[in-house]
Amino acid sequence: MALSDIDLCNPDSFVNGVPFDWFARLRAEAPVFWHPDPDGHADGFWAVTSYEGCINVNRDYEHFSSAAKTSLFNDFDDELIEQQRMMMVNMDPPMHTRYRRLVNKGFTPRMIRDLEARVVESTDAILDAVCEQGSADFVETVSAELPLQVIAELMGVPHEDRHLVFDWSNRMIGSNDPEFQDGAEAGAMAAMELYAYADQLCQQKKLDPHGDLLSVLTHADIEGDALSQLELDMFFLLLAVAGNETTRNLISGAMVAFFDNPDQWARLQADRSLLPSAIEEMLRYVSPVMHFRRQAAQDTVLHGQEIAAGDKVVFWHISANRDETAFTDPDRFDIGRTPNAHMAFGGGGPHFCLGANLARMEIKVMFERLLDRMPDIRLDGDVQRLRSNFINGIKHLPVAFTPSAPIGA
Ligand code: HEM
Repeated sequence: MALSDIDLCNPDSFVNGVPFDWFARLRAEAPVFWHPDPDGHADGFWAVTSYEGCINVNRDYEHFSSAAKTSLFNDFDDELIEQQRMMMVNMDPPMHTRYRRLVNKGFTPRMIRDLEARVVESTDAILDAVCEQGSADFVETVSAELPLQVIAELMGVPHEDRHLVFDWSNRMIGSNDPEFQDGAEAGAMAAMELYAYADQLCQQKKLDPHGDLLSVLTHADIEGDALSQLELDMFFLLLAVAGNETTRNLISGAMVAFFDNPDQWARLQADRSLLPSAIEEMLRYVSPVMHFRRQAAQDTVLHGQEIAAGDKVVFWHISANRDETAFTDPDRFDIGRTPNAHMAFGGGGPHFCLGANLARMEIKVMFERLLDRMPDIRLDGDVQRLRSNFINGIKHLPVAFTPSAPIGA
């Protein structure tokens, strides 16, 4: 197969599994590869696949901009780019630095610690709803539920309104999969509804603040600087999307990794002290976010390859996390792996995932409860993957387990 036959644009290339053999070829032969894209605005992009290259792109925001054309693969028109730039993930320093300083106030280790007891409750309630059945679609009933509940909890959305947030998030998650394709219009409509709701909720939090993130952010003020209402709305929207599909697919993908490697499930059952390294290995091995995009802001050189100002650059976390120069035996799922400097949350640049510690806590709680409550969970049918080159996703995951009584969470 010639390198020119590799097609990372077509979501069909990912539907039967991540094309790891393609990524291995690219890393070995052309770690910065000009990938044609006849449907894009430019005629192609630089596909960066090595660990070192991805780390560089991620950290070097002066050469690789998130704001110029957004951090998303798709090429938008100027009006849409302008709108997208109101989200921190599509900003560059110094604007990004200011925004991040303000929202960081809502993501302190203490806030995450305080949330843990409620995450345990939510997880137990989710498992209570299926534990008597003995079988379930793991995605629909388990992994999709928790991140949504956590985001609603984090933002301080009242219980009676939670179904609204679930509905908006699901409609906004842009996927290429026909099963979920409601069209861009439905997504835009959901976003508008969410803004209107966020406005109203922020007004309430201004008058009657609690310990939740939205209350903290409506009152966040650093040296007289505060978030505007529009900035708050955009943040709400970003969280509803960023914290949702990522965590869901990490949990589903890790479950599949354990089904494929039952010795690792048994190992974790026998030694729970391995949970912290197991979580990092789940993140590396699954890499739910497969790529992000930048735009070269100045001429530069990466791995000896010249990149011109204005070129589109797409860097592949999914490939970096399987780079044999960074990880020993990278295709092995080893829950005791150390060191494990994966880049599932980004490579340490200014955009390093804001929700990383929250996601780690959710994963920890979910797998602790699964190990306790469904120790013999097993695959019970075909795994159906999401048709996407962005999210390493699973749509349906039939599982079976010995039925048990709810614990009344
Ligand atoms: C396993 C779960 C998750 C993964 C793999 C993940 C991955 C990532 C990655 C790779 C980025 C970097 C974007 C870039 O370089 O342009 C990012 C940014 C971000 N993530 Fe996550 N994420 C996860 C969960 C979450 C959660 C639970 C939240 C919040 C509730 C969250 C909120 C964000 C935000 C706000 C940003 C933008 C940060 C910035 O631009 O400074 N993520 N995430």
